[in-house]
Amino acid sequence: MVEVYYHDNNDTVDNFTEPHNSGKPVSFEELALIGVIYKKITTQEDLDALATQREYKNRDIVNLNLAAFNNDLDAYNAKMQQFYKEHYHDDEEIRYIIDGEGYFDVRNKGDEWIRAKLEKHDLLILPAGIYHRFTLTDGLKYVKAVRLFKDEPKWEAINRDSGKESEARISYAKTILV
Ligand code: LAC
Ligand code: NI
Repeated sequence: MVEVYYHDNNDTVDNFTEPHNSGKPVSFEELALIGVIYKKITTQEDLDALATQREYKNRDIVNLNLAAFNNDLDAYNAKMQQFYKEHYHDDEEIRYIIDGEGYFDVRNKGDEWIRAKLEKHDLLILPAGIYHRFTLTDGLKYVKAVRLFKDEPKWEAINRDSGKESEARISYAKTILV
């Protein structure tokens, strides 16, 4: 079952895979205010229907754990650090979890971190331009997810600390003006 809550902001370089649950829950309505869509999808048919409806023509499956890096701990850790660095994309980021679990952190209008713990059958859509980050959970350190995309995947992550503001970022920022 998905859990969504405010992050406690007590994370350090090596404890970010812990839950960091502040105890303050976040509703799906609150997520919708920042353009983040959550859906529980239990069948292949429902996933296909959503893909058709939103024109996600392509997809692939990503497996993330130490084994996926041939047990190369340095390579695994480097990837984990990269995913946890605050960034945005010029496209939506859509993930459907089929096994394992992971934390997606997104910024709300007040620039606070909201954390969603996703597991099997959870689908999350992050709008283009939203600042976010991802990590595996401490418990499992494993996720298997379907990545959906409209056309050719554009995986470029634009890190917040680069200061780069693309058109997608600028238009998203306008939608969350308070
Ligand atoms: C990505 C996730 C980790 O960019 O945010 O693939
Ligand atoms: Ni991303």
